[in-house]
Amino acid sequence: MFISPSPIVDDLNAAVGSTPLVRLHRLFPTTEVLAKVESMNPGWSAKDRPAVSMLDDALHRGVLAPGGTVIESSSGNLGISLARACTLRDVNFVCVVDARANRSTVAAIRALGARIEVVDRPDPATGDLLTARLARVRELLDEIPGSINLNQYGNPANARAHHRGTMREIAEATGGRLDVMLAACSTTGTIGGCRSYITERGMQTELVAVDAVGSVLFGGAQGARLLPGMGAGFVTELSRQVEPDRVIRVSERQCIAGARILAQREGILAGASTGGVVFAAAQVIRERPEVRRLAILVHDGGLPYLETVYDDDWVRENLDLAPEDIRATMTEIEDLQTHDGTDRD
Ligand SMILES: Cc1ncc(COP(=O)(O)O)c(C=O)c1O
Repeated sequence: MFISPSPIVDDLNAAVGSTPLVRLHRLFPTTEVLAKVESMNPGWSAKDRPAVSMLDDALHRGVLAPGGTVIESSSGNLGISLARACTLRDVNFVCVVDARANRSTVAAIRALGARIEVVDRPDPATGDLLTARLARVRELLDEIPGSINLNQYGNPANARAHHRGTMREIAEATGGRLDVMLAACSTTGTIGGCRSYITERGMQTELVAVDAVGSVLFGGAQGARLLPGMGAGFVTELSRQVEPDRVIRVSERQCIAGARILAQREGILAGASTGGVVFAAAQVIRERPEVRRLAILVHDGGLPYLETVYDDDWVRENLDLAPEDIRATMTEIEDLQTHDGTDRD
């Protein structure tokens, strides 16, 4: 139980951050693995941090004013975070989504006061829905006076939120004594903020970027990616300034197994990218037995993934993986982290 008094805050934007660090001693009994539970932010993900940071930066620089409009293409966590953050700053929010977007996520964005624009036809030239969404954002920017796009892929205020928030909080909680830090990447705002903090403070911490097989970030080869949240199909502007010490690429099977075992062993229901980070943490522990303390991020909560990552039928139909395949990888994660590689049972 928390024993500190409940803070009184002006609004939920002020309640972003200061998430707990949880010791995963059931899943990782031999090495200290600390999970920063970003799903305990008010928008249920780490995206709350860059949403408030990018919005306040735009207001501070005067490129946006109360009564103005933010237009963004997002069908996930950033959409939810911006919907709340904009409502609380008296800014309008138009969220451009496509027909594939998770229904309950879109409903949440709408419920938090945003206008939803659905793009249902792919771009005629490329056949791509994301390209069509970005084209719609450009049209809306022309149509709506006083509107801006925050461009999370290149906005320095995205990475800054993780430098000043996520990584600072982890460093302060651990007294800076941390051997390895692992985080998943998409825009690379998270890993970029961690990188600059670790370098600035001279921390002796290895920074591991966990990326999806099929993502082109950090020299990856383009391929199909079926799980949302992790990886990118293009090299983001922010990623050009980030050098992780190591990149671990994880498959869909490894993400699903990691998410399921985290839920079953630690009671933390998380999304697919967190599952990938759990798998990567187990791999690091096996390869480097001298490592004493790792930190990982729980990037978001698992509710939007119940009908995909946590559903055996969906996994079989869409990824051609049987429940036994997933269970085998869950066992591999548990075995991976025994230092001498021997079975524990
Ligand atoms: C589900 C999920 N995975 C991974 C990430 C890391 O993404 P980024 O590189 O954009 O910071 C995020 C960001 O908050 C996220 O919400």
